[in-house]
Amino acid sequence: MRVDKLLANLGYGSRKEVKQLLKSGQVKINGAVVKDAKEHVDPNKDSVTLHGEVIEYKEFIYLMMNKPPGVLSATEDNRSETVIDLLEIEDQVYEPFPVGRLDKDTEGLLLITNDGKLAHRLLSPKKHVPKTYFAVIDGEVTEEDVRAFQEGVTLDDGYSTKPGELVILKSGIRSDIELTITEGKFHQVKRMFEAVGKKVVYLKRITMGPLELDETLELGEYRELTEEEIQILKDYEVK
Ligand code: URA
Repeated sequence: MRVDKLLANLGYGSRKEVKQLLKSGQVKINGAVVKDAKEHVDPNKDSVTLHGEVIEYKEFIYLMMNKPPGVLSATEDNRSETVIDLLEIEDQVYEPFPVGRLDKDTEGLLLITNDGKLAHRLLSPKKHVPKTYFAVIDGEVTEEDVRAFQEGVTLDDGYSTKPGELVILKSGIRSDIELTITEGKFHQVKRMFEAVGKKVVYLKRITMGPLELDETLELGEYRELTEEEIQILKDYEVK
């Protein structure tokens, strides 16, 4: 990769600005000053420094966000704030995108990455990656609902869902539940409850495949996945 591209990708300025930076003699590759913007660098092997500080470059970035309500799962939008707007510039320069969508009012686990292959594997309908949601339901959730979800319910557009595993945590005029589904139809959890005459009043995703929401993250906070989490995700094959 050209050294000017590397620096520009990392947010050190436009290509033109980066050229100036190089000209000023502040950039070194493996200890030697580099002034030529066309100079090639291998980010995995070479040590690049700017003002004497080592520049870290990675191809892929993997972030876990506890998505807050009121923010869109999109990369950009003219009207609403997006999950990408919540990222530090140092992370935005990798051009990551959210893996799948949570509704604007849904909270919880959102994976944000620039690894298209991994995103594709996790989102492919053929892979049936399980996702677990915690929800508060207006109405009493019953064993009958558990059985209905086990068999699959018919949504408002006539679509019959695959089986969902419903666990009742607390039943009453307001019920707390966990639901695991292996599909990602538009508003799926809300529409599954509508199919049994109930309304979701709070929704939060807590797992996606092998990845679990780090509950220490406040709403809107995010962190990089650990090496171990990345490896588990990459090795993950749904049966
Ligand atoms: N199901 C929904 O209804 N909404 C979400 O955001 C995710 C799953």
